[in-house]
This record gives sequence, structure tokens and C-alpha cells, in this order.
Amino acid sequence: MRICFETERLMIRPLAPDDAEMAFRWCGDPKVNTYMIYPLYHRVEDVRAWLEKRDPDDPDNYDEGIVLKSTGELIGSGGMHYHAERDAWEIGYNIRADKWGNGYVVEYLKALIEQVRKVRPVDAIDGIFASENHKSQRVMEKLGMHYFMDTVFSKLDGSETFQAKYYRRDYSPAKESGVLTALAERRSYRGKYLPEPVPREDLRIIMQAGLDAPSGCNKQTTGLIGVDDPEVLGKLKAVIRPPVAETAPAVICVLTQRINAYRDRCFAVQDYSAAIENMLLAAEALGYRSCWYEGHITDTDRIGDQMAEILDVPNGYELVCMLPIGIPAEKPSVPKKKAFSERAWFNSFGCDQEKRHS
Ligand SMILES: Cc1cc2nc3c(=O)[nH]c(=O)nc-3n(C[C@H](O)[C@H](O)[C@H](O)COP(=O)(O)O)c2cc1C
Repeated sequence: MRICFETERLMIRPLAPDDAEMAFRWCGDPKVNTYMIYPLYHRVEDVRAWLEKRDPDDPDNYDEGIVLKSTGELIGSGGMHYHAERDAWEIGYNIRADKWGNGYVVEYLKALIEQVRKVRPVDAIDGIFASENHKSQRVMEKLGMHYFMDTVFSKLDGSETFQAKYYRRDYSPAKESGVLTALAERRSYRGKYLPEPVPREDLRIIMQAGLDAPSGCNKQTTGLIGVDDPEVLGKLKAVIRPPVAETAPAVICVLTQRINAYRDRCFAVQDYSAAIENMLLAAEALGYRSCWYEGHITDTDRIGDQMAEILDVPNGYELVCMLPIGIPAEKPSVPKKKAFSERAWFNSFGCDQEKRHS
């Protein structure tokens, strides 16, 4: 379907056969093609033939050109295709390799999904990517998609088959906010992290979620220090014995001021607990994993005090918890939890509705 719009850095417009030469810069690049379903193009004429054959008015297919506003260059294409059999839209994209790592795909697809939702019902967005393609995994996560299931896909010419992951974003009202998904999927993660750094923007979002938490009498006794400088991280990790979160590319240190909220009532523990849980959920929603390391650093060996010294934390604050933040390299272990009926009841302790009225 032809669609034109602009984002902050991009101009989106339909592709035309005259784009063949520019499109060959990604269609003919083996690096871009590695995990693509279509075989590598070897001639500009073949790209032109593909562009001529496309139906730009297909209402179930948005596959537009992505133009960089600053230079006017066509740098890629992509969009979303409706699959009636599963009532979902699947996303796809190609970006010239020299333009990777700038967030253009996420900027485009976020805006496209919004545009399409104005004119068509969109119940779910799907994305399938080779499991080893971590860059695509990040794109899906930034679009608010979550793991749905494992799958496989093959190139159209059958030359290669990939173990793949199927990610989905469900637009049903309850799931829309992502809060319930993050709540259900959060786990304490103690495995290895991928070496990719956490963008400062994401760390700030997670930390802001912590600051947004409730606090007793609004005393806001919790302070935070995000650490993403490898040198400072190295110093912190050197004092954490036995080591945990050794591969985390960032950590958030949680500080508390143990001051009274009113009379002799101090809610500092409740305040920082609420902040920590908010941050764990925000990290989960952005596709990161973390773990609430409090016992480990506040035990008799007082590792937290050594960390506070490294971070120049002044008197009056105590460093009580460390949250590693990063993209997980492994699956988290899932602890066994008691059943709902063992810990939660309706109307009186230990009773469910039926028992109480029988
Ligand atoms: C106050 C508190 C302190 C914790 N301290 C640690 C810790 O020092 N090390 C650790 O590995 N996990 C720590 N955890 C994480 C718990 O072990 C974890 O939440 C629990 O096993 C349940 O697993 P789940 O978070 O995946 O649901 C802490 C959790 C809380 C609430």
C-alpha cells in the first residue's frame, strides 16, 4: 500500500523501479542478506525487475522506501505484511549496512505501525528472526515485542535453514501497556550478558521508572547511580566477592537515606523496594534482564560500602542494592512458585469464594 510520512530523521515513500540502483546497495550486499529469506541479488537489473513486479497498491502489504532526510539518500526498505491465517501483521526490513546501529528501523517501524493502526485493525505484530541475529532481536524488543515461540525458516532457494525466534506484540487492551507482560515475564537473571552496551537513553528510562515509584509521605528517600563507564564498572566488579554479574554492561546502584517519614516511622526500605521493582519491570519491558542483588552486597562483608566509596557516595546515604542491566545471553531459570491458592484468597484467610459460602 502506498504510504508517505515523515519521522524525525526519515522520510517514508513508495519504492519505484528507478530506485533499483540504490536498492542494490542492500539487496546485493551479502552482509545485509545473511539472514534474509530472499537470495542475494547479483545484478541491478534483477532488482529493477523485482521493483517492477511488486504491487505497490496491495492493501495487505506496506513495503516502503526509507529515505534519510539529512542527505536525501534511500537507505533501505521495509514494512509490514498482513497474514490472514493468523490475523497478524509481520514486519520485515533491510537497511544498508553502513547505516546500521542508528535506530532507523525502530524509528520507521514504530511510526508505520501507528499510521497503519489509524486505518486498519492491528491485533498483533509478529517478527521472525534467526536466533543468532541479536541485532534483530533488539529491534523487536524496542518495538515492544516479546518471545512467542521457537521456529525455523529457510531461504526461498532452500540454500540455508535457520533456527529462529518468533516475537510478537499483542495489541489487546490488557497487554497493550506491556505492564502485565513485564510482570509475568520478569525473572531474576544470574546468567551471562551479551557484550552490547546499554544505551544511556535506556538506562535513563529504567532509572526514571525507579524515581516514579511511590514513597512513604513522598519523602523520596531513594537515590540511584547508573554505571555504564567500563572503567568504573571494572572497579565495582573488583570488589564484588564472590563475583556476580561479571559480564553486565551496566549496573544501577540503589542508595537509601534512612530518614523518618513522620514521627519515628522510617519507610526507606519500602521506598527503595518499590523503586527497585519498578526498575526491574522497566528493564524487562525494554528487553533487558536484571537481578535484585541486595543480600549479596549488604551482608557482613559490606561490599555495598566499598562500592559506595568508589562512587563517592556521601555520608547519609547507604548503597543497598545493585541491579545489573544487559541483554541476556542465556535463558533465565524459572523458580518454583507456590500456587495462587496457597498465598492469596478472597474475603477471608485461607478460603476461596466457594468454600466460604458452602
Ligand atoms: C530483598 C531481596 C534481596 C535479594 N538479594 C539477592 C541477592 O543478593 N542475590 C541474588 O542472587 N538474588 C537476590 N534476590 C532475588 C531473589 O532470590 C529472587 O527474587 C527469588 O529467588 C525469586 O525469583 P524471581 O525473582 O525470578 O521470581 C533478592 C530479592 C529480594 C526481594
